[in-house]
Amino acid sequence: MNVHIRQLATSLASADGLELFAADAIAGLAAERKRLPPKYFYDRAGSELFEEITRLDEYYPTRTEARILADNAGAIAALVPADSALVEFGAGAATKVRILLAAAAHVSAYVPVDISAEFLAGEAARLDHDIARVAVHPVAADFTRPFVLPAAIRGKPRAGFFPGSTIGNFEPHDAAAFLRQAAQVLGKGAVFIVGADLDKDAAVLRAAYNDASGVTARFNLNLLTRINRELGADFDVDAFEHVACYNRMRARIEMHLASRKRQNVKLRGLTFSFRAGETIHTENSYKFTIDSFRALAREGGWTPRAVFCDAENLFSVHVLVADAPR
Ligand code: AVJ
Repeated sequence: MNVHIRQLATSLASADGLELFAADAIAGLAAERKRLPPKYFYDRAGSELFEEITRLDEYYPTRTEARILADNAGAIAALVPADSALVEFGAGAATKVRILLAAAAHVSAYVPVDISAEFLAGEAARLDHDIARVAVHPVAADFTRPFVLPAAIRGKPRAGFFPGSTIGNFEPHDAAAFLRQAAQVLGKGAVFIVGADLDKDAAVLRAAYNDASGVTARFNLNLLTRINRELGADFDVDAFEHVACYNRMRARIEMHLASRKRQNVKLRGLTFSFRAGETIHTENSYKFTIDSFRALAREGGWTPRAVFCDAENLFSVHVLVADAPR
């Protein structure tokens, strides 16, 4: 496999990326109900903590989705056009794509798109070693914003891959907008393979985001460590506590960082005050039914083509086809 690491030049560690991070953090902390965007979880430490989450007993989504992909790889691959370029949105450790690539011998290029350039480079190199027939063209970008596909895959049919139920981290309105943008990036005739976590028993959901060994807590709190390091804030990380709860009405897990006491935090010359118990809302993880996900897909300009689930209906993998542009 050919890896084209040089294309990673557009790193988000750039001055622009940092100013965007500062602006997002300040806007979120200045809000009436404090919040921080979940995309900033994934610095190097955060990406590694997330990988650790995926191996936890309580965190069923990753292994369940991998199982669904493995059990149905042939059927999924059959829905991907010949000579396709597979574009993964938020590639992370790229473990799941290996399952697809192994079954889809007719995929000739792989484009992992990830915000964490460092992490991406390592994984791309490892894939290079393992699968010889696929050209790898990593793109370091925030996939929630429009990005340009590498020139090397021009003319190839595109298949998008968005596993992990990351779609559930968007507000419903933003999820539809993301799907529309993905249709634009991938182009006419594209297929899109999307993982969506299914709504289920609240105790199972709560356990998945409140693991006994505290890895999810460290993942959540790492956001404050990152803001301290990169933006020069003075969060006392030990004075905040990980909270994850299930909001049944909205069918979502919410993660918060709760202030253990009344305190002030300084960031870029601004002071943000916290009441005891006040929280920063750091993530929503929406859960779907097959039908609620299909409705969302249609709203985002895609037609549901097939869906694959595990025997316990914990998780779903959808194959969508792009609607003709209007
Ligand atoms: C990014 C969607 C895969 O919401 O389950 C895991 C992130 N947050 N534990 C999810 C996450 C806390 C995760 N995904």
